[in-house]
Amino acid sequence: MSTANKINQLQERKDKIELGGGKESIEKRHQAGKLTARERLLMLFDENSFVEVDAFVETRGIDFDMQKKKIAGDGVVTGYGSVDGRLVFASAQDFTVIGGSLGEAHASKITKVMDMSMKTGAPFICMNDSGGARIQEGIDSLKGYGDIFYRNTRASGVIPQISVIMGPCAGGAVYSPAITDFILMVEKTGYMCITGPEVIKSVTGEDVTTETLGGADIHNAKSGVAHFKYSSEQECIDGIKRLLSFLPDNNTSGVPVYSCSDDLNRLVSELDSIIPDDTNKAYDMKDVIRNIADNGDFLEVQEHFAKNIIVGFGRMNGKTVGFVANQPNYMAGVLDVNSADKGARFVRFCDSFNIPLVTFTDTPGYLPGVGQEHSGVIRHGAKLLYAFSEATVPKINVITRKAFGGAYIAMNSKHLGADMVFAWPTAEIAVMGAEGAANIMFRKEITASADPAETRKQKIDEYRDKFSNPYVAASRGYVDDVIEPNATRIRVLNALEMLNSKKEAKPTRKHGNIPL
Ligand code: HXC
Repeated sequence: MSTANKINQLQERKDKIELGGGKESIEKRHQAGKLTARERLLMLFDENSFVEVDAFVETRGIDFDMQKKKIAGDGVVTGYGSVDGRLVFASAQDFTVIGGSLGEAHASKITKVMDMSMKTGAPFICMNDSGGARIQEGIDSLKGYGDIFYRNTRASGVIPQISVIMGPCAGGAVYSPAITDFILMVEKTGYMCITGPEVIKSVTGEDVTTETLGGADIHNAKSGVAHFKYSSEQECIDGIKRLLSFLPDNNTSGVPVYSCSDDLNRLVSELDSIIPDDTNKAYDMKDVIRNIADNGDFLEVQEHFAKNIIVGFGRMNGKTVGFVANQPNYMAGVLDVNSADKGARFVRFCDSFNIPLVTFTDTPGYLPGVGQEHSGVIRHGAKLLYAFSEATVPKINVITRKAFGGAYIAMNSKHLGADMVFAWPTAEIAVMGAEGAANIMFRKEITASADPAETRKQKIDEYRDKFSNPYVAASRGYVDDVIEPNATRIRVLNALEMLNSKKEAKPTRKHGNIPL
């Protein structure tokens, strides 16, 4: 065969590979409103930047007529390219080829690009759309999953890992996304479950659909498994890019730096009136965050789950910071099992990747209740304390109002190593709220008095004047400064600048043992 023919043959082979399971299956996907694996990758990567790896890889399976189903590429497209100019590795499962099922060769393609992303220190994105372990390949498929889970774990805290659920992700397959840093789901088409509706029906008798069992709404609002949801694949891919814009390439690269068009000396007068006179009234802490962050740009993470705590990314002077804040607008901002889990995981992500933490505290404490106690609020609540204590990134806390008891300590207090703690004049830093404290301390006096209601009110006021303010904590140095709310952006920016060169040694150990 002539050289020219050989080159033509290569192109023919590549054209065939590009069609995956064939034109008909692609057409079927489009009719169902889904994109192909290749279309998804092309949408993600900068124009002409995607380089495919292992397009010719085929299954070595021979059982159950697998040789007849052999398709080059083996149901997953893998490679690298640039996203907004930065190197990123990715895999995208191709449902048109044997249902995107994962056999040995399919898995080896994914692990190859995972290894490359580790060696080069670049983020890894895994787009899931698969019927799970390829049944015909038996335990070789399980080996493939194990290889991926192992690498997900080794890469954790080294490179950002993002999982995208754009179709089925069932059985053990869910554990790769679960180990990664962020899970993004497409509504209506993406779902995740350990066992499907049929198995559940036969075992427990419960009737569910894939959507009500493990759709995007459930995992974003109820289980807390996922971090983001989108109504279309295009929106989801835009979401990946936005998330990546806040993340560093790896744990040594430092955060991406953007030029800052927001005024570094901006006073935020709105904040002077954001705290209601009635301390039991709510306000929206997201307004505080948006007022502080550069240009009001805030990417909330896990927006729909445990809304009593807010976590997410913003920028201060063009550099990424992780915001963690109690939300007085939802369950008064109490800490509970889910909010502690959510907060702790985010804090640990930021610490792994050298993203400074800025927290806003307004919490009345841990949520009382038998349900909470029996769900392990002790174990889960401890995670937040642990996460803040072990974090060595710059840690800045702004106490806007309530900081009571154990929750005061847990929320990035000086005692857990916060570098700068600011309090607003509206801060109430105490063992508990004035009402509760007065009821306990002055119970006898209140009940014995001629006018118990009036005495109770007096005692509450007495306690509030004495302890429910920022000045006792400031007099001990637990608060570094009491500041005017309008100066918060300036003071936080200044503290971040001061902490830019922060270094903190950790004790020698293999790793800690966070209460999981
Ligand atoms: C081999 C598979 C497959 C699989 C799908 N296919 N899943 N082939 N192994 N796991 C094939 C189908 O046979 C079919 O081939 C093609 O892919 C498209 O599948 P359909 O069923 O026609 O598509 P759809 O109706 O959209 O249903 C999608 C599905 C369903 C819900 C995902 O295919 C399904 O239930 N698959 C099995 C899921 C499963 O039980 N997986 C194993 C889980 S256990 P043809 O040739 O007909 O087009 C597991 C353990 C992992 O994953 C443990 C790791 C630790």
